[in-house]
Amino acid sequence: MTTYEEASRKRGKQKSPLSLYHLLDPEVLANPYPLYQRLRSEDPVHWDPFLHAWVVTRYADVVTVFQCFSADRTPTPQQLSALGMSTLAPLAQVMVLQMLFLDPPAHGRVRGLASKAFTPRRVEVLRSHIQDITASLLDAVQDKGCMDVIRDLAYPLPAIVTAEMLGVPTSDWEQLTAWSADFAQVLGNFQHNPERAAKVIKSLEEMIVYFRAAIEENKRHSSEGLINSFMNAEVNGDRFNEEEIIANTIVTMVGGQETTTNLIGNGLLSLLRNPDQLKKLQSDFSLIPSAVEELLRYESPSQHTARLALDDVNIGGKLIRKRQAVIAVMGAANRDPERFPEPDRLDICRQDNRHVAFAWGSHFCFGAPLARIEGQIAFETVLRRMPNLHQVPVPIKWRENLGLRGLTALPVAF
Ligand code: HEM
Repeated sequence: MTTYEEASRKRGKQKSPLSLYHLLDPEVLANPYPLYQRLRSEDPVHWDPFLHAWVVTRYADVVTVFQCFSADRTPTPQQLSALGMSTLAPLAQVMVLQMLFLDPPAHGRVRGLASKAFTPRRVEVLRSHIQDITASLLDAVQDKGCMDVIRDLAYPLPAIVTAEMLGVPTSDWEQLTAWSADFAQVLGNFQHNPERAAKVIKSLEEMIVYFRAAIEENKRHSSEGLINSFMNAEVNGDRFNEEEIIANTIVTMVGGQETTTNLIGNGLLSLLRNPDQLKKLQSDFSLIPSAVEELLRYESPSQHTARLALDDVNIGGKLIRKRQAVIAVMGAANRDPERFPEPDRLDICRQDNRHVAFAWGSHFCFGAPLARIEGQIAFETVLRRMPNLHQVPVPIKWRENLGLRGLTALPVAF
């Protein structure tokens, strides 16, 4: 594999300063692993002067960040106003109520109520629907002998499943996808793009109106689904208020779509690029669960996330000051040779594969059981129905979102 430095030299560049900002370079975004390797080996707890944040890339340190740092990292609407950014206040108003951005005890309360609503039984009910949805999406392309994995499967499958999970009409899936993509811009990128901010705020306002109407509808005719379960969830007499229901419905909806789309797209690409592993899987479908874990590790759909230091703390010999920001790079931790032997090799039979693709600790992905089922069903159904699947030779383009790693298209023939 070409190292990051070799690639830079080839392009006539000097050794560039170490920064996660290089992800803005499409070549680096296409293959960030040499950059991660350089960060891990040269400065695993790195003060990134361009991002004004610490970048943590070793597995053990990333786990420590998840265990010990604060998730309460969104500025409040008041702080934004003080910074002259009051246009973003509606976004902050929603984010400060979302479980993703809460610390104990608020986080435990919201997650506890949400877990009452999203039970393993509910996920199991979705299993047979996921199978049916996957089958009908593939029926639509089977006779053509070709498809774009992203457009024809990886986008619609999680979006339709999400609509079912929430209890809103599945015919609205394209709208849910568009809203999620806008919100994911905020979650995945380092900085708010002022040009995109207006669109994100508009989407947010539309989502709030949509989910408020869904709540009203549920008051009239209660329906199966997460929104209804959020409305009825109760722990020791404590319940969600309406703003909390909307905020956490939005985070669950966004969390459930972009990432699962990327698992399906990145996963199939990785298998196509590793024909020996593809063949192995096709000859033994009992390997599907272990393959999904390896694909999550190998091309993690969510590459990094942020935290704040609660206090002055020492990690890897570096002093991180109270309230400084830390970026935990799961994509790098998942390729750490100190944790995973031969980390750049895709091995669908890998043992002891406790990756951090779903994070770690109290914020461990709330939807992981559902994401795993969706991935398992999608890969198995595609490979069973399209045994001679192969990539159409066109250049691969990665989406511009720096944190949520996924393809814009993946044309295949079968
Ligand atoms: C392959 C698919 C998925 C990946 C890779 C993924 C990844 C993650 C990661 C890394 C986090 C932690 C983020 C942080 O702490 O900063 C997270 C949290 C979360 N995810 Fe997922 N996710 C996936 C699918 C889903 C699905 C299907 C749902 C919804 C059903 C979902 C809902 C959530 C929610 C609500 C949280 C916040 C949990 C909390 O803060 O306590 N995710 N996910």
